[in-house]
Amino acid sequence: MNPKPVTEESIRHAVELLRQGQLVAFPTETVYGLGADAANPDAVAKIFTAKGRPADHPLIVHIASATQINDWADSVPEAALRLAEHFWPGPLTMILNKKSTVPAAVTGGQDTVGLRVPANPVALQLLQAFGGGIAAPSANRFGHISPTQADHVAEELGDSVGCILDGGPCSVGVESTIIDLSDGIPAILRPGRITRSQLKAVLQTDVRLSPQSKIRAPGMMAVHYAPNTMALLCPADTLITMTDDLCAQGKHIGILAFSAEIAEIPCLHLLRLPADAELYEPALYSSLRALDNLQLDTILIEQPPDNEAWAAVNDRLNKATV
Ligand code: TXA
Ligand code: MG
Repeated sequence: MNPKPVTEESIRHAVELLRQGQLVAFPTETVYGLGADAANPDAVAKIFTAKGRPADHPLIVHIASATQINDWADSVPEAALRLAEHFWPGPLTMILNKKSTVPAAVTGGQDTVGLRVPANPVALQLLQAFGGGIAAPSANRFGHISPTQADHVAEELGDSVGCILDGGPCSVGVESTIIDLSDGIPAILRPGRITRSQLKAVLQTDVRLSPQSKIRAPGMMAVHYAPNTMALLCPADTLITMTDDLCAQGKHIGILAFSAEIAEIPCLHLLRLPADAELYEPALYSSLRALDNLQLDTILIEQPPDNEAWAAVNDRLNKATV
């Protein structure tokens, strides 16, 4: 299945496929999603088969606007409405108590549901035309690198989807921030572009960072988002000495750097990313994917600073590396 340019006709076709219980890949501002009608358990089951994802891992339900929260969630706290007001459409997923009508296939059998209104014009056009919720994880094989371009989806899942809408490269490039609002104290389950400080400022309460949630989220497993090539995270100085050592051993290595001064020599494939986290993020997955496709011996990744602006990148790199 080749990516399709976005036209009124391709949106109409995608909606038709969703209504028939087929899968549709579509762009969001974070990563491409693999979508199915969230109200149709048989359609949702196809997502798990296509991804090779364990059936008890819950999916995010994408909706066209905050006015649809009550179609999916029960006893919605004030905090959720405030966050929706500030951050939707945008890269924030809220975990809320689910309505009894939400299929267990979507929630992995849990009593909560993840909801998000994406800030991407194609995603919104699709959601508005479809009318209902679209359950969608990232459109990659389970545990592999998330897709930020339509051709990444075609490469990995092309045979399993009815249609891939091509919305160009994703502007944010890392998955949404996930905040759990289902049991009182808000907790971040996955860091993303929207930071803990931003969430605290809007909620005017503490927001916990929850590395060990009782809720299962594959994004929280130790190895996830991983390339097939062995990848190591190291500070700039170590990176330079390791590069010399590995090249001397005749290895072919890939380097993802944003500040380290590295000489370009033949055994190296060097990719330089911006030193600003918000510019680094949209380039991260496509760079990792490009290096991963080169059959290199090792990928060395320069360790970013340990601060809030880099929280999402550090989270993903820690999971992508050994
Ligand atoms: O940016 C994103 O969130 C992208 C785009 C496509 O919207 N989606 C995405 O989906 O990253 P996925 O399935 O790859 O990751 C969604 C995360 C998973 O870790 C999942 O377990 C968690 O959300 N999640 C969904 N519903 C949940 C729930 N009820 N409780 C806890 N975690 C939940
Ligand atoms: Mg994913």
